[in-house]
Parts: sequence; structure tokens; C-alpha cells
Amino acid sequence: MVNFTHLLTLLIAQYGIIATALPRQVRQASPPSQYAANRLLDGLSDDPYQDSAHFRVYGADAATANKTLGILEAAHQCFVQDLGWRTPGLDNKKGRVGKEVGPWYKMKVYKDETISIRSAAGATEPNYDMGLALLRITEGYLTSPRVLGHEFGHAMHFSEKRWWETVANFVAELYVATPTCDQARSVFGVRGGDSIIHLTRVIGDSHQVIVDATSGSSNHYHAWPFLSYITNSPDSYSGLGKQIVLDMIRKYPLNSNETPLHTIERLLGRGVGVQKVIGRYWARMAYVDIGNAKAQSKFNLERKSLNYANLDDLGHGRYMVKAARAPRYMGANIIPLKASASKVSVTVMADGSYTATLAVKGGSSTRYVELNGGKGEVTLASDEGLSLVVANTPTLVQYDAFNISAELNRGLIYSVQLFGAIV
Ligand SMILES: *[C@@H]1O[C@H](CO)[C@@H](O)[C@H](O)[C@H]1NC(C)=O
Ligand SMILES: *[C@@H]1O[C@H](CO)[C@@H](O)[C@H](O)[C@H]1NC(C)=O
Repeated sequence: MVNFTHLLTLLIAQYGIIATALPRQVRQASPPSQYAANRLLDGLSDDPYQDSAHFRVYGADAATANKTLGILEAAHQCFVQDLGWRTPGLDNKKGRVGKEVGPWYKMKVYKDETISIRSAAGATEPNYDMGLALLRITEGYLTSPRVLGHEFGHAMHFSEKRWWETVANFVAELYVATPTCDQARSVFGVRGGDSIIHLTRVIGDSHQVIVDATSGSSNHYHAWPFLSYITNSPDSYSGLGKQIVLDMIRKYPLNSNETPLHTIERLLGRGVGVQKVIGRYWARMAYVDIGNAKAQSKFNLERKSLNYANLDDLGHGRYMVKAARAPRYMGANIIPLKASASKVSVTVMADGSYTATLAVKGGSSTRYVELNGGKGEVTLASDEGLSLVVANTPTLVQYDAFNISAELNRGLIYSVQLFGAIV
């Protein structure tokens, strides 16, 4: 998998360095149809290159460069032209949203084998002086929409001055595996692909802190389905929807310790807290019912192999969460149940704040019953399946995903009493 941890650290460390040595430039008011060549960012500029309207690719043979350019132009069409993200062709220090100031530069892409030494398929390299990023891609991935989509995602949010790995994979998924970019891709002859959802991590390890970037247990590449959920917004909570990720990026106070969850909290309408949103997200992940058809098909193929061993059986319908699997900050346990009667009732007792939901899966749709005061009850039709989902949803706290405290990694201890079903 692509490893950007180093780059991310670098970016955080150098954040805020402002260039003083920019040459005088002619200001343009609206983007030209062809962006200008950018001579200031050259590293390997003696290599042959090939241009498209918004990109320049160095070092690749003509046929490969043509494919790379097509993939990137389709991404530019979809995200910048159709969805309104800021183009990475703009200096990220200049011009507010809607009042961008040129010049607009072609983003440079280099075929670069040296990055494969760091076992990366590609990397986005920010230049803080220029406020621009370039891409370094190993030869084997110059025609990969998934890798180029991920790196383009980084370049876009570098342009927005906000930076999360989770966002880059959200962009890659949206680009490759959802209908959102079908039209833009078809214009440039770029084929879609499978969902990049990583179910053994996102479901099998759903008890982890929702975004955890610590080495050894990191899930920040895999946490993007939450962003898909709030974008597709199947529960129609006010404030969520198609623009939410861009809103989150733009309404995030720069250099603050706020987490993206704080930003969502502020964007949500009255009456719905971020805890409810997270509880419902996890409930929907019981059957990957988040409005992403390819991710759900992958789940249907892989669900039998996922780790759901979250509880210990105490007998008489009582169960206790396993300490090692207790859901941590904004994480959850998904617990498939086997019904033994048509009426199933559940009581959850816990030592902290949580959101528990019964996910009832029918042939064509899934319904959700939130537990109230720890109690819930459902009557099942003969073809319906059932899961209990317990999410640890305390008051929001600030945290560093790269250095998670023991307090945040302390799981929610709870027990369950079941009638009419077993685990
Ligand atoms: C790829 O090559 C074809 C044929 O020369 C050309 O029409 C097309 O514009 C090229 N694509 C890009 C993105 O440059
Ligand atoms: C991680 O956080 C702890 C406090 O929770 C702090 O003492 C420590 O210096 C931090 N480590 C790094 C590498 O930032």
C-alpha cells in the first residue's frame, strides 16, 4: 500500500512556511482552457514530457503518458470542473475560494522509480514556496486510476491547505468505483474499477479509534467509508450530503487542534449530534448499506471471512465484550445475531456513552432500530437477518491520530442481554 506517513509528517512539520522569492507574475482572473507550463518546480526536467490541458508528464513513453494524462484529465473534469474542488494548478497561498488568482499551472507528474524504495506506488510532493504539489509515480502505476486518483486527492487537498490520508482514499474511491465520475471518465476513456474498501480492517477491526494513524495499527487509509456515508447521506441528516467533505475541508480552522469530527459537528443541523451520525454509520456498516454498491458487493463476497468475535458468552443469553475488542473512541462492534424467535429483544449495559442500534437486513433493504436507554426490540420477518451494533460515542475530544493517548484507546466495557437470539 502507498505509504505517505513520512510525507504527512514533513507537511505538518513545515506547515506555514511562506515563500518570499516568488517572481512577479501576470494575474489572471479566470482559468484559461490550457494551464501554463510551470518551469519553477523542475526536478527532472531534462526528461522528455507530454502535455495535456492541465498536466505535464515527464519520463514516460508516449503511449503511457497519454493514458496518465487521460486519467488525470478525467479526475480534473470530475472533481474540479463538476464537483467544485480547488484545482491543484493554483498556488495554495493565493486567492480565496471563488476569488482564485492565477496563474494556473499544469501539475507535473514524474515517472520516478526512486520512490519505490520506500515501497510506495506514488507520492505527492508539496512545494511550500510555490504552494504547488507535483506527483512522483512509479512506472507500473502510471496507468492506475486508483493510484493517480489517490495522489490527485492529495494534490487537491494540499491546494485547499488541509491534509488527511483518509480524504485521498475517499477521492480515489469516488473516482474509480462510484458513478460520480462515470461521465468524466468516459470522456477520457478511463475505465472504472472495484471498490478499494478494506473490510478486514474497517469491519474486522471496527473497534479501533475511528481514524488511527499510529504505526502498527493504523487504519487512516481505510477509514474513508465514513466520508462516503456522510456524502451519500442515506439518513438525510441536515448538513450532510454531496458537498460535506469539501465543506469540512473549507470550514476547518487552519492550524487548529480541531478534528474533522468537530467540523462535522458544526456543520450538522440542530438536533443531530455527531455521536448519532457515527452510531448510524457503524450500524449501516453491519451490511455496508452506505450508498456504495461496489463496496457492498465486496462485503457480500467477504463477510464470511471477517472477524466478528467481539463478545464472550456468559450463558443464559448474557454476553460480555472481550477487553481487547472493546470499542475505542468513535469505534464500534458489529455483532451478527442468530434469531431463535421472531421477536428479539436486547438490553445493553455499559460504563460510558454509547450509541447502540439493531440493523435488520431484509431482502432488498435494511432498517435500523436505535436502542433507547439501552433497550431495543424488533419483530423479524422470516427472511430478515439481524445485527447489534454498539458504538463508543462520547463527547468529542481533540486528538492526534499519530499519537493516540491511552485514554482514547480505552475501550467501552459493556454487557448484552439477549432474548430470542444468540450471538
Ligand atoms: C491521447 O492521444 C490521442 C491520440 O493522439 C489524443 O487524441 C488525446 O487527446 C490524447 N489524450 C490526452 C489526454 O492527451
Ligand atoms: C504523544 O503524546 C504524549 C501525551 O499524550 C506526549 O507526552 C508525547 O510527547 C507525544 N509524542 C509525540 C511523538 O508527539
